[in-house]
Amino acid sequence: MIELAPGLIYRPAHFSRVEQEALVAAIRDIVRAAPLFTPTMPRTGKPFSVRMTNCGPLGWVSDRDGGYRYQATHPATGEPWPAMPPALLDAWRDLAGFDAQPEACLVNFYAAGARMGLHVDSDEQEPRAPVLSISLGATCLFRYGGSKRGDPTKSVKLSSGDAVVIGGQSRFCHHGVDRLFPGTSTLLANDARINLTLRRVTPA
Ligand code: SIN
Ligand code: FE2
Repeated sequence: MIELAPGLIYRPAHFSRVEQEALVAAIRDIVRAAPLFTPTMPRTGKPFSVRMTNCGPLGWVSDRDGGYRYQATHPATGEPWPAMPPALLDAWRDLAGFDAQPEACLVNFYAAGARMGLHVDSDEQEPRAPVLSISLGATCLFRYGGSKRGDPTKSVKLSSGDAVVIGGQSRFCHHGVDRLFPGTSTLLANDARINLTLRRVTPA
C-alpha cells in the first residue's frame, strides 16, 4: 500500500484476476436489474460522459432539476437498487477501516474517451467514513489534489484490480479522471473502464 497523501491510500492489485472477473459478473447482474443511466449536471443539464448505476440501499444520482443526491430508487425504473454483492461488503470490511456498513455503491461506466472532472465527494453525511474506490478494466489517469479547487494536484495511473481509499485528511480532496488509456483492458471489451465507489451515506 502507498499513502499518496494523508488518508489517501493506494492499494495496487488488491483484487486478483479471478476476483475481478467475479466483480464484473456481479456488475452485469446489477446493470440488468438497474440499467445504466446518464446523469446530468445540476442547473445546466449538461450530460456526464460517464454512465452510472448503483447497488445497495441508496444510490447517487444527479439531474438538472434535482441536483446531486442519494435516493433509494433508480431514477428511470423507480425500482429499489439491487443489493450490494457480498464481495463488495467484504472489500469494505477489509479496506475501509470503518465499522458501519456501506450504504451505496456507485457504478461508473467509462466508455473509451469518457472522463470525470475534478470534484469533491461531499453528498454524504458521515465524514468519518472513507470512500472506497475499485478500478476494473482500462487503466486511467487519476488526478488528486487538496480540499481547495486551486490546490496543486498529482496523478497516478489506476489499473484493473487497484483500490483507493479516500479517507482521513483526504476525505474531501479534489479528484477526477483525466483520461483512459486505450488497449490496456483485458477484462472489459472496447477499452472500457468500470469504477466502483462504496460510501456510507447516513450518520453511523
Ligand atoms: C469518482 O470520483 O466518482 C470516480 C473516480 C474514478 O473513476 O476512479
Ligand atoms: Fe468522486
